[in-house]
Amino acid sequence: MSNNQDNRVIVVTGANKGLGFETAKKLAALGHQVVLTARNEQAGKAACRLLSEQGLEADFIPLDISNSTSIKLFTQILADRYQRLDVLINNAGVFFDWESSAATLKLDDLNDTLKTNLFGTIEVTQSVLPLLARSPSGKVINVSSDLGSVSFAADTNNEYYGVNGTAYRISKAALNMYSTQLAKEYAQSNLVVSVVSPGWCQTDMGTDAAPRSAEQGARSIVNAALEPSDKYHGKFVLDSQLLAW
Ligand SMILES: NC(=O)c1ccc[n+]([C@@H]2O[C@H](COP(=O)([O-])OP(=O)(O)OC[C@H]3O[C@@H](n4cnc5c(N)ncnc54)[C@H](OP(=O)(O)O)[C@@H]3O)[C@@H](O)[C@H]2O)c1
Repeated sequence: MSNNQDNRVIVVTGANKGLGFETAKKLAALGHQVVLTARNEQAGKAACRLLSEQGLEADFIPLDISNSTSIKLFTQILADRYQRLDVLINNAGVFFDWESSAATLKLDDLNDTLKTNLFGTIEVTQSVLPLLARSPSGKVINVSSDLGSVSFAADTNNEYYGVNGTAYRISKAALNMYSTQLAKEYAQSNLVVSVVSPGWCQTDMGTDAAPRSAEQGARSIVNAALEPSDKYHGKFVLDSQLLAW
């Protein structure tokens, strides 16, 4: 088992495009062993080829975070290939209810959103915890959102106060709570659990209206993923600044 902080085994979920891809690219450029995952095998392999054309290496393992069979298979392959995991970046997520209000939210939309953003993220995390335990300094990075902050949602002066997206906001608020609970359980261990907001970024999800590039968002994720201390354990951060839950 390597203690080398410069060559960490890092899994990025939903890394075929958007913030996940940019995050994988940055980490590969720094020489880490990146495991790029995607639910669509062709898209995942194409993303690896794109990195390879830029002189960067990443391994690929298929992973659909809303499918238990896929999670089990992924974990088995990961264990066989690497025997441990240093960093899990739970990036995969969905947001399809931008306009839904609390009064008219469709429960099917809530269910579908939670299935990926909350249940899927939890199931992947639980599945790889034994591999993270084999790392000298394991880390779980949960990619959340400013939209998951209850403090921001209730603050009339906050820029996201008027944003609907009720299912998405609930899913990220719940992910924040799960992360807090997990962080407390691992307080006396080598495992660091942090929650990151990438800010509002230009991706398929964030749209071209977003003020930040995907590269900027990925930088926020990478900063937390590679932070050598435990200062972000149980914290919610954006660009290394603490956010209110
Ligand atoms: N962009 C923003 O402004 C913003 C702001 C705050 C937080 N975030 C968060 O950042 C993360 C990445 O978002 P993004 O902007 O990069 O969005 P994106 O471009 O839409 O990418 C989302 C990624 O998640 C994958 N995914 C969705 N469901 C999945 C599943 N069941 N299993 C595996 N992969 C799945 C997608 O795969 P497919 O290509 O197969 O659909 C895609 O690779 C999300 O958690 C999002 O909530 C984004």
